[in-house]
Amino acid sequence: MKATTSTPVQPGTTAPHTPRQEGIIKEAIGLTDVKTLRARARQGIEDGAMTAGYKAKAEAVITLLNAALATELVCVLRYKRHYFMATGLSSLSVKGEFLQHATEEQVHADQLAERIVQLGGSRICPRKGC
Ligand SMILES: [Fe+2]
Repeated sequence: MKATTSTPVQPGTTAPHTPRQEGIIKEAIGLTDVKTLRARARQGIEDGAMTAGYKAKAEAVITLLNAALATELVCVLRYKRHYFMATGLSSLSVKGEFLQHATEEQVHADQLAERIVQLGGSRICPRKGC
C-alpha cells in the first residue's frame, strides 16, 4: 500500500489548492498578476473621483455639496459666536461644548470642500478672492 504524504487538513481550514485551482480562483475573484494590478491601480488614480462607474451628474452634486458646505460654515460661525459670548458660572463647560461643536462642523465643511474639488468643482467662497 502506498503511503500518503499530504498534510492533514486542520479543522476550520481548507485543503491547499493546486496551481491550476489557484489560477481559476484568482481569475474568478478578479485577482491578477502584480503588473496588471499596478496598471489598473495607476489608471484608477488617473481617473480620479470621476470613474467610469460614477453615474451622478457632477454639476448637480457639486451644487448640493456647496449648499451643505454653506450650512456647515454657518454652523461653525454660530458655535464660535456662542463660544465667545458664553458667560457666567457654568460658562467654562458650555464653552467647551460650543468649541467642540464648532470644530466638528469645520471638519464636515472641510470634507465637503474636499469632495467638491475632487468632482472638479470649486467650493463656495463667501467673499471675492478667497
Ligand atoms: Fe455638520
